[in-house]
Amino acid sequence: MLYTHLQSLKSSRLSLGTAPFGTTIPRETAFRLLDAYIDAGGNLLDTAAVYGFGVSEQTIGAWMASRGARDRVLISTKGAHPAIPSWEKRITEADIRADMEASLRNLNTSCVDIYFLHRDDEALPVSEIMPVLDRLVREGKTRYIGASNWTVARINAANAFARAEGLTEFSVSQIMWNAACINRDGLYDQTLVAMDGTEYAGYAENRMPVMAYTSQAQGLFSFIQKGGYDSLSDAMKATYLNDTTRRRAEIILSVAAETGISPTALSLAYLLYDHRVEALPILGISKVERLTEAAEAMDLSEEILMTLLS
Ligand SMILES: NC(=O)c1ccc[n+]([C@@H]2O[C@H](COP(=O)([O-])OP(=O)(O)OC[C@H]3O[C@@H](n4cnc5c(N)ncnc54)[C@H](OP(=O)(O)O)[C@@H]3O)[C@@H](O)[C@H]2O)c1
Repeated sequence: MLYTHLQSLKSSRLSLGTAPFGTTIPRETAFRLLDAYIDAGGNLLDTAAVYGFGVSEQTIGAWMASRGARDRVLISTKGAHPAIPSWEKRITEADIRADMEASLRNLNTSCVDIYFLHRDDEALPVSEIMPVLDRLVREGKTRYIGASNWTVARINAANAFARAEGLTEFSVSQIMWNAACINRDGLYDQTLVAMDGTEYAGYAENRMPVMAYTSQAQGLFSFIQKGGYDSLSDAMKATYLNDTTRRRAEIILSVAAETGISPTALSLAYLLYDHRVEALPILGISKVERLTEAAEAMDLSEEILMTLLS
């Protein structure tokens, strides 16, 4: 496993995504995945109040209790997701606090390690948001704060305000990022923020680490290897297909054919070995074999990395 520091936290570079835990992935399977992830040296669990309306967090809470594992893992959770199904924005202090308390109860812990706002509300000035998050840190409810699906420009504005006022700054971002080139207009949810040229330049400049979700592009490159472009779902075609993704797929599939390494593992290398922006890919997995497969990304020879990244 590769490691990094998120402020004072020693974190594995690969994070485990837990959105379906306890719902589409039954609790017993989720426990097996959590055990396997810890055995592989992982320690960063990503969840959110909205995942299964608390069931993902409850599953992690139950697993931590049964394994006595709270001190061995870092918990990143998120709150203030827009209301479902109205999609009304919910970034008020009352909403943030209600979500935070529910998350602590669900996780059966008194403090999380990173608390993300799940979305932004650009109509709100950062001066209304940052003092609320700072209070959560000072009250000991979270060690650090993060922004998910915020543009880097808004994060920079929020941190400039926080710095000037002596408040806690965002330490980490969470956006969609993978080896494919993402078609902004093809995204299933237009409130998501995906890595693009502008975002990338911003992170290369501000040096903020990025927890990358949909980091395996949902298996896109393995699906292309198995069945070609025509076999992809309409949603995958809309989200990923363009000339840049095709060029990247060509390189990945040629290295995969030569080495026998899974295209999904090779695609993760683009994030893990990016020299300008530090990525912590979040893995969505439903079986232990996928974890073993993804871990191959951390064991690639110099030669393979040169071919992939040149
Ligand atoms: N902040 C946000 O707004 C946000 C949004 C979305 C997600 N997230 C976080 O990111 C986590 C992961 O998200 P994600 O599921 O979109 O990410 P992902 O890791 O890109 O996709 C996971 C899917 O890829 C499939 N896959 C992986 N390797 C494959 C292969 N070789 N062949 C075929 N399929 C393969 C997996 O299949 P199997 O099911 O067969 O293993 C799984 O269904 C979530 O649990 C959550 O924690 C955050």
